[in-house]
Amino acid sequence: MKLLILNGPNLNMLGIREPEIYGSRNYAALCDNISTAAAEVGAECEIFQSNHEGALVDKIQGAYGRFDGIVINPAAYTHTSVAIADALAAVAIPTVEVHLSDVMKRESFRHHSFVSPIARKTYMGLGFEGYRRAIRYLVLGEE
Ligand code: DQA
Repeated sequence: MKLLILNGPNLNMLGIREPEIYGSRNYAALCDNISTAAAEVGAECEIFQSNHEGALVDKIQGAYGRFDGIVINPAAYTHTSVAIADALAAVAIPTVEVHLSDVMKRESFRHHSFVSPIARKTYMGLGFEGYRRAIRYLVLGEE
């Protein structure tokens, strides 16, 4: 099984960025964690981060016919991007949405997600563990 893991804007700033919300581990640590979680279930994974909406849309379109599942933390684009939601709907690859923080307990502008209606599942507020849960859900169907 081939999984595409997508991370949106500012997630490359983990470790520096608001550690009281996102923790003190950096983006490389997140990538290690994701690779380990994928290896644990025998899945292949490609990890991609971008600060640019169009680059994320291009990556989703390019996944068509090549990947069996997508794990996406669209970051701020969660709350603004119809384009990312449309791209996910277009390729129709099983998708799980992840947020490190619990967006429902934060500012009201973070409560709406354009991606949630397209995602099979959303994990939030679990930190790095959310990505592991998303991978296990896609590969094993584990809730
Ligand atoms: C985030 C939550 C978003 O509201 C925020 O814009 C992010 C990260 C999270 O992982 O908790 O950049 O997606």
